[in-house]
Amino acid sequence: MHAFILLWWCGLLVTSVVGGNNETDRLALLEFKAKITDDPLQVMSSWNDSIHFCQWRAVTCGHRHQRVIMLNLRSLKLVGSISPHIGNLSFLKTLTLSNNNFHDEIPSEIDRLRRLQNLRLYNNTLSGKIPRNLSHCTNLKHINFGCNLLDGEIPATLGTLSKLQIVSFEINNLTGSIPPFFDNLSSLEVFGALSNNLGGSIPHSFGQLTKLEFFSFGLNRLFGRIPPSIFNLSSLKYFDVGRNQIQGHLPLDIGITLPNIENLSVADNQFTGPIPISISNASNLKSLQFSGNKLRGGVPSLEKLNGLSVFVIGFNKLGNGGANDLSFLCSLTNATYLTILGISVNNFGGELPKCIVNFSTNLKTFVLDNNKISGKIPIGIGNLTNLERLDIWNTALSGNIPFEIGKLHKLQYLALSQNNFFGNMPSSLGNLTLLIKLFLGDNNLQGSIPLSLGKCQNLNLLSLSNNNLSGTISSQISSFSFSPVFVDLSGNKFTGVLPMEIGNLKNLEYFDISKNMLFGKIPTSLGRCVKLEYLPMRSNFFQGVIPSSLESLRGLQVLDLSKNNFSGNIPKFLESFIFLELLNLSYNNFDGEVPTNGVFKNISATVIKGNSKLCGGMPKFELPICKYNKPKKRKLTPSLKLVISILSGLFGVTLHGASKSFIAECEALRNIRHRNLVKVLTACSGVDYQGHDFKALVYEFMTNGNLDEWLHPISRINEVPEEQTNLNFLQRLNIAIDVANALEYLHHCCHSPIVHCDLKPSNVLLDDEMIGHVGDFGLARFLCKATRECFTNQSSSIELKGTVGYAPPVAEYGMGNKVSTFGDVYSYGILLLEMFTRKRPTDNIFKDDLNLHDFVRGALPERVINIVDPIILSEREDMETRTNDSHIQNRIGCPKILECLILIFGIGVFCSMESPRERMNISDVVAQLHLIRDKLLRTRIHRERLQLTGNLFMTQYLLL
Ligand SMILES: *[C@@H]1O[C@H](CO)[C@@H](O)[C@H](O)[C@H]1NC(C)=O
Ligand SMILES: *[C@@H]1O[C@H](CO)[C@@H](O)[C@H](O)[C@H]1NC(C)=O
Ligand SMILES: *[C@@H]1O[C@H](CO)[C@@H](O)[C@H](O)[C@H]1NC(C)=O
Ligand SMILES: *[C@@H]1O[C@H](CO)[C@@H](O)[C@H](O)[C@H]1NC(C)=O
Repeated sequence: MHAFILLWWCGLLVTSVVGGNNETDRLALLEFKAKITDDPLQVMSSWNDSIHFCQWRAVTCGHRHQRVIMLNLRSLKLVGSISPHIGNLSFLKTLTLSNNNFHDEIPSEIDRLRRLQNLRLYNNTLSGKIPRNLSHCTNLKHINFGCNLLDGEIPATLGTLSKLQIVSFEINNLTGSIPPFFDNLSSLEVFGALSNNLGGSIPHSFGQLTKLEFFSFGLNRLFGRIPPSIFNLSSLKYFDVGRNQIQGHLPLDIGITLPNIENLSVADNQFTGPIPISISNASNLKSLQFSGNKLRGGVPSLEKLNGLSVFVIGFNKLGNGGANDLSFLCSLTNATYLTILGISVNNFGGELPKCIVNFSTNLKTFVLDNNKISGKIPIGIGNLTNLERLDIWNTALSGNIPFEIGKLHKLQYLALSQNNFFGNMPSSLGNLTLLIKLFLGDNNLQGSIPLSLGKCQNLNLLSLSNNNLSGTISSQISSFSFSPVFVDLSGNKFTGVLPMEIGNLKNLEYFDISKNMLFGKIPTSLGRCVKLEYLPMRSNFFQGVIPSSLESLRGLQVLDLSKNNFSGNIPKFLESFIFLELLNLSYNNFDGEVPTNGVFKNISATVIKGNSKLCGGMPKFELPICKYNKPKKRKLTPSLKLVISILSGLFGVTLHGASKSFIAECEALRNIRHRNLVKVLTACSGVDYQGHDFKALVYEFMTNGNLDEWLHPISRINEVPEEQTNLNFLQRLNIAIDVANALEYLHHCCHSPIVHCDLKPSNVLLDDEMIGHVGDFGLARFLCKATRECFTNQSSSIELKGTVGYAPPVAEYGMGNKVSTFGDVYSYGILLLEMFTRKRPTDNIFKDDLNLHDFVRGALPERVINIVDPIILSEREDMETRTNDSHIQNRIGCPKILECLILIFGIGVFCSMESPRERMNISDVVAQLHLIRDKLLRTRIHRERLQLTGNLFMTQYLLL
């Protein structure tokens, strides 16, 4: 007892001199807490003076001194920065903040933690540099700064931390080179900096780290050669330098000098020479990745490597086109864990050996495309029941596609294009219900597309181009249970018409039916495929006009109608298709005037030759001048239903004069025309059946109801199928642009500005193409001199309030007739915020001082994920899983949708500022939203392109 007290005293004496006391710790912890800005799990609620700080959650004290020795806040959803006061916890041995959202820099005060052994800051958003003076923490054993946003160099001072065992900097943005002063770190077992921007070569000193087991520097910019001494580190289990620019040969005895190696990757570098035969001695190997180098020669037998799970050697110059090139495949049949096998893009020749049907059923990915492999797909292929991806495109295989392929129930990706397969497409393809992409193009397949294919409900890419397929496509398309993104049927002998049901393929972005024998008209329903970007239809027998419904295909980049029998005028709406890069109308029977704006200005993007009845256009087309034709008045089609909006009572008080102004306004409204305004067909006034006066505006009918019903579908009539009740991100953005366009037109483009005064989702109507039209001008006000008179008369009797929630703060409209365009912008801002949060401004959560504007504003930019409509987020996940590039995903961490959302919410917030002067101008809103959509579409297209042009590209990614 005595001794204990003595020690206790000594401790106190010492610490009070150099390390503060227990009160210092308490204050430091409170300072730490003060920098936490969000704590959804209420972790910090126990951090208060009602209990001793040693009992605070996540805090551990040493028994003797009651000083904090460990702070473990892993995975607690904390947001904030790391307080510099952390440096006052002078007894701290372990600091773990991994898997949170700590941002800003790592405070340099951390260097005062002289007892610190474990510093784990993995998976936050820390930025800035690694503190140089971290070297003062001489007891450090374990540093993990992985998955942050750190930049700058790895400080060479860390080379003095002789107790270090584990150091990880993976997935940051570190630059410079690997410091050569690490040879003192004799305890180092793990050193990883995967995915940074490190350059230079690997220092020789690493060869002295005899305890090193794990060396991971993939995805950097390292060059030079690997110091030979590293290959003598028999301790190594994991060695990954994939995707750098390293040169040299693999040492011939590598399989002997690295007897413990389990994971060896030199993929995507500049290695030359052969695969050393000794590799087959490294019997602990689980993953061997040599792909993407310049390796040559044969592949040795791998029969001792029965633990292999990943073997990838694609994108080299292996094989010599000989008959025995692929014999090594048969040495893998005892590798029971084999999951990924890739030999694409090499010089392998010979027949595909039948032994492949004896591969482990664990095999998920088998890619051998782009070789000179001949023979047939062996019948037993159906044994590989867990196969998810099979790539055999661009080889020299022939024969039928075996019916057994239908046994591969897990298959998601099947690429057999560019071979000599003949016969019919097996109907068993319909059993592949998980199939996402099917490439069968450039073969000699014949017969019709089996109807069973319609059962592949997950298919989003179907490429059958350049075969001898025949029959109609109408019933096939009608039977699709899937909604593909990419369909290429070009270069076959398909005949018949394009069915109406094409309009059900709402996700279609690429639809190529050129070079077939299709006929009939373009179905108007095609206008419902609003995501279309590529629409080549050339060289068929189509006829009729370009339907006006195609006006909704505003994302089109390529529209090729050449070499058909199309007639009628070239629609003017094509002028507004800003993404159009190629418009080929050549060799048809189009007549009338060639428009002159948009794509028509660019005579290399527009091809119109071979249409003898065209006139006008840009002079360079050298067409005859058009004879003036009075434009025909658009007739109302019978299907156009009318809706009558009754405004009785609104003008009831100043009856006589108002009636006159009502008619005047209606006349004016009738003359304002814009594609995003509901057309006012006529205005009328009369006496209803009860003898009351009524006034009415007659609007064009909109088939898809109003935006309010779409955003808040509970109130929606149940006839609409489930999946259609939700607007996707792009649709919302398009509608937001439509509404902004309409407002811009009202505010700026008429003779006199018009203020709508009652913009809200229920006044945004959607037509059958989901284009937004602003309607209900019941409260609309002209700001011009001509009608000012009728205003001033009315202002006293009409309540110009708009709708609660959407109307700007009271003072504005309350000031008599001071109606202004700023008010509309406010309503627009609220509408925009509602569209993307799916919260009405009148939602129950908005009471007391919180409103929709503040709700969004407070969350920008970091917490945008917390306020956005969850439906959009799930869509984002979908989009992300469509890209295979998991590295880039990690890297960016918040892909484009989030970026775009932050911008959109920003616009909404600026539009709904309390002070009218701080609000945006609607023209700027239009311009910015366009830019955002541009950005979004471009990225998406870019990503899709990578996949399309891309078996090659994808394979390469997959193999890393
Ligand atoms: C701090 O230590 C002093 C004496 O060393 C002790 O009296 C006091 O109760 C301790 N305070 C806390 C908060 O532990
Ligand atoms: C990073 O932390 C988040 C929680 O903040 C977690 O959801 C995610 O899975 C973690 N990522 C990794 C790679 O550990
Ligand atoms: C990484 O740093 C480079 C400059 O060193 C910079 O251009 C790049 O944007 C940074 N990347 C990330 C993801 O921060
Ligand atoms: C697979 O293992 C069996 C049984 O041990 C053996 O007979 C056969 O030769 C092995 N095959 C290969 C290719 O290594």
